[in-house]
Order: sequence, then structure tokens, then C-alpha cells
Amino acid sequence: MPWRHVVSPYRTWISEIMLQQTQVDAVRGYFARFVERFADVHALAAAEERDVLSLWAGLGYYSRARNLHRAARIAVKEHGGLPATRDGWRALPGVGRYTLGAVRSIAYGEPCALVDGNVLRVVSRIGGLKTRRGEKSSEDRIWAIAEALHADDPIVRARPGDFNQALMELGATVCTPAPKCGECPVRAACAAAATKDPAKYPLAKAAVAKKRVRIAAAWIEQGGKVLLVERVRPGLWAGMWALPSASSSEELASLLEEIGAKSVRVGAVLRKTARTLTHRQVEIVVHEVSASGALRGRFVPVAELGDAGMPSAFRAALP
Ligand code: ADE
Ligand code: SF4
Repeated sequence: MPWRHVVSPYRTWISEIMLQQTQVDAVRGYFARFVERFADVHALAAAEERDVLSLWAGLGYYSRARNLHRAARIAVKEHGGLPATRDGWRALPGVGRYTLGAVRSIAYGEPCALVDGNVLRVVSRIGGLKTRRGEKSSEDRIWAIAEALHADDPIVRARPGDFNQALMELGATVCTPAPKCGECPVRAACAAAATKDPAKYPLAKAAVAKKRVRIAAAWIEQGGKVLLVERVRPGLWAGMWALPSASSSEELASLLEEIGAKSVRVGAVLRKTARTLTHRQVEIVVHEVSASGALRGRFVPVAELGDAGMPSAFRAALP
């Protein structure tokens, strides 16, 4: 990795910003061109933003490049170069606890923890910890473990930058989402490897419970045609045409009266369908309904209901 040939706070900072959200292989060429063009923080601060962005083109997440450029100008103005202290670094745009940990440990050799997605996965597996990606309490737990290692473990403290990079690299190359435990140097110490399924760590994201929605729908058939109404806004499937429906058979009767029905009788259940939508579990119960009066809506021949533009959950409830 080109950023390891010569190590300096500037090169570590640039490479670690590029490596966030981006694979090592994609970063190599960009890093080499960037430090060739802007050799140090003074050169970067003196650059035009468009020149910085054009060297970034294709890497994505362009706010990273704008923040780097802004940070370079702030650093030169306030510190005459890159900051010497942790607080000075942390105050720069785009420098969070991950970047701080990377720069301090790799470039300054200070015991300073860092956790990214790879570290979270590797530490969870070695410890057999039931963490979840993207869950705040899981991330805090792994940060606390990493910080404790940097505070107490003499081997970690002797080479904090190598330790952090080794963890990240193990996660990027061996302890990948589908781990290659047979090639892994820490297999003997790994709790996940001792189980049947090391890939299950960290656990899958918790499924968001879907809201259950029960819909009572009316099948009002007159002379071979069935009544459809336009669904109201706001609401599920707003603006689409479907069987008249409500949240219960009582609500259904009053809805039909609102659209002009007289002597409504909600009868037997004809069909039921269940559908899983993105955020809802929907059940539609279709009742046979008799009603008189001038109903407002559209009567559609039974054979054409499939092409009437109904939501698919309603189409599934057709005979
Ligand atoms: N991913 C992000 N930074 C890294 C580094 N310094 N070494 C290996 N993988 C990384
Ligand atoms: Fe990951 Fe397997 Fe190595 Fe454990 S043994 S750290 S699960 S690759």
C-alpha cells in the first residue's frame, strides 16, 4: 500500500480519508496522484478547490475532498501546518474519532484506538460478541474494547499503528464477510472460528417489526360490474383505484353511505389475501356487500378488474 512506504501525518491523513467508504485497491492510484500533485499541507491549502476535486473525480463522497481542502487551509492558518495536538486535529473538518485514531496511531505512534466496519467484524468474531452493524451500542462496545487494548496491552502499546492496520487488513483480506478461517493467523484464539458458522458475527441488522394493517373491502357487483373507488390522500395507495375499503366492516358500511349507498348490508367473507409490503403486513378481507342508491365511483366489468390499475394486494384478492 503506497501510503505505507513513507509515513507522515499528512500522508496518513490523506490516505485514511480516501479509505473511508472506499476499497484499498480503488484508493492506490488516487493516493499516489494526490500526494504527487499536493506534496504537503501547504500545497493543498494553496490549491484551488476545483483542482482538488478533479483529482478526486471517480472516488465518490466528494464532501471528503472539500473537507480536506478546507481543513488544510484552517490548519495552515491556525497552526502554520498540520496541528500538533489531538484537539487541534479533532477540530478539523472531516476528522472524526476514526481519522483521529488512524493519524495518531499510524503517524505519531501513539496508543489511540480506531474502529471501522472491518475492525467491528474482526473483534466481534474473535470475541464471539453478538454485535450488530450500524447499531450504536455495538459500536460503542467495540470502541471500548479497542480503547482498553490501547490503554493496557503492552504489545498493542508498543506498535499501536501496526496493530490498528493489522486489524483493518485482516478484516479486508481474511476475515471478510465470508471468512477464510483456514488461512487466518488468529484462528486459535477466535471464538467465532470454534462455532459452526463464524460468518454469523456480527449479527444481521435487527428487522424492523412491520405494522399489521387489516383492510375490509367491499365487493359490490351489479349486472356483472364491480364498484371501484379512488383511494383518498393521504393514505396507503392514495390516488389508485380499488374496491371500497376501510379498517373494519362497520367503517366500511359508513364509508359506503358517504359515497351514496342506501340500505347497506355487509355480508359473507368472499376471499382473504395477505401481502407483505416494505413497512406493513397487509391483510385484505373481501366482503360481499349489497347496497342500493347511486354510488359514486366506477363500475368495471369483472373480467376487466385485473387491468383496472388496482394495487397488487387488491388484484390478488380477485376471484
Ligand atoms: N483500511 C483503512 N485504512 C487502512 C489501513 N491503514 N490499512 C489497511 N486497511 C485500511
Ligand atoms: Fe475471522 Fe475466522 Fe480469523 Fe476468526 S478465525 S478472525 S472468524 S477469519
